[in-house]
Amino acid sequence: MQNNFWQDIVKRAYDMDRPLFILAPMADVTDCVFRELIAKYSKFGTKESLLDVFWTEFVSADGLCSPVREVLKRDLVYSDKEHPIVAQLFGSNVENMRNASKLCAELGFDGIDINMGCPDKSIEKQGAGAAMMKNPENARAIIRAAYDGARDAKKEIPISVKTRIGYNKIEYKTWLEEILKEPITTLIIHFRTRKEMSLVPAHWELAREIIDYVHSLRPDLIIIGNGDVLDITDGIKKYKETGIDGVMIGRGIFGKPWLFNAIGFEPTLKQKFEILIEHTHNFEKTLGDSLIRIINSDGRITEKVVPGKSFAIMKKHYKAYINGFTGAKEFREKMMQCNNATEVEKILREFIKENFVL
Ligand SMILES: Cc1cc2nc3c(=O)[nH]c(=O)nc-3n(C[C@H](O)[C@H](O)[C@H](O)COP(=O)(O)O)c2cc1C
Repeated sequence: MQNNFWQDIVKRAYDMDRPLFILAPMADVTDCVFRELIAKYSKFGTKESLLDVFWTEFVSADGLCSPVREVLKRDLVYSDKEHPIVAQLFGSNVENMRNASKLCAELGFDGIDINMGCPDKSIEKQGAGAAMMKNPENARAIIRAAYDGARDAKKEIPISVKTRIGYNKIEYKTWLEEILKEPITTLIIHFRTRKEMSLVPAHWELAREIIDYVHSLRPDLIIIGNGDVLDITDGIKKYKETGIDGVMIGRGIFGKPWLFNAIGFEPTLKQKFEILIEHTHNFEKTLGDSLIRIINSDGRITEKVVPGKSFAIMKKHYKAYINGFTGAKEFREKMMQCNNATEVEKILREFIKENFVL
């Protein structure tokens, strides 16, 4: 039987007269550490949370089928608290997509999403991301491969596609018509063209006509809109105006892991700093360098440092968390000089001591 988590969450959102709220995939932002924080502060899994689905950052299907597989699998780490969670893959090689999809299904993901919208040149060079829009035949084969891969793992999990409304210009009909022939359950549509990158406001004014068009071909398809949804209030407004099934929020979550908390939890500056300290330590512990012990053939034990993710990733978060108070700019600059969690905690604690009555 098909294990389609979408049916349950669509029903729940419908009963509450609200859109589905989905966390957008963002490379080097929504990693397992940030997602864990989002789950905690957005109270995921409780009635107080409006978040319905987690998404991983995108992962290369080719990479998952190569010797760097073990390193890339770090981007597929998730906790039990994050279900339902969808793994996002990119790639244009059919065989690799099938194998990568099988792996994701074996790892217990609830769905597989294929990136067909990323404008990054290094991704497009591989024929993946937004370049898929130029080669619908291959795009269709890639969807089938993801579908078959999950079934190779004996998992009937749903497949979705995240794409845009055209390549150089707004021209979604022929493109969507092609991919909708394949067995996808859900379409995530970023209301911008590839050429527009994120430089112009998302074309939410087209949402209704795109929904009508998609439903004329596939009445059952779940449609998620993406682009410039700021927060819960904005998501509900867009849902009421367009009738879209759900919204996917990306940049709105920066520096606000509590965004999906339904009761509108707004932390004090001191609480924000405590969350930032927690975030930094968790990042270092989970994604920083790690020491592994290797037992050699002669029985000797040697230690090896496996390099982790760059600490520079945390600095993107600092920009988002540290704002809205006098001296924020100078303080942010100070934070940018830090290179590990101990240094970060030290200057944040000093700031807390100087500025708050404890
Ligand atoms: C730093 C960053 C990384 C991103 N990485 C991905 C990715 O891995 N996969 C993907 O499909 N989209 C990625 N995106 C695009 C977002 O998922 C989303 O489509 C886009 O930001 C528009 O939504 P927003 O206005 O809510 O941010 C990324 C965007 C940003 C800003």
